[in-house]
Amino acid sequence: MKKTLLIAAATLMLSPAAAMAERSGEEVYNTKCSVCHAAGVAGAPKLGDAAAWAPRAEKGVDALLATAISGINAMPPKGTCMDCSDTELKSAIQYMLDASK
Ligand code: HEC
Repeated sequence: MKKTLLIAAATLMLSPAAAMAERSGEEVYNTKCSVCHAAGVAGAPKLGDAAAWAPRAEKGVDALLATAISGINAMPPKGTCMDCSDTELKSAIQYMLDASK
């Protein structure tokens, strides 16, 4: 019985379903970030606005991730996605950067 449980746990950890639990940048953007970043609420850099994103892109995605986690001015910590992993936030930032060149 114990052995079966162990095997089941190991299978779960290795299964692709576990990896897929991570949301894509587009998904996180659409469900969390678009609330502000689609229309530019409170001065948020809009998706697709190259002029607004270019100076931010220069900081590099890791610096942007750091400010997105802590929040900056009207940007709330983690962009309100409290259950987002750093990887998911980073994907969402990369998604916005790629869509705003
Ligand atoms: C409640 C509105 C709001 C939500 C929701 C929101 N943002 Fe923002 N975001 C802002 C505002 C406002 C700024 C501009 C802050 C400034 O530069 O003064 C901003 C700026 C940023 C920046 C640039 C930071 C910098 O260093 O210049 C990044 C990156 C960012 N947001 C990522 C995200 C991500 C990722 C999400 C979703 C997980 C998200 N935001 C959700 C309002 C929001």
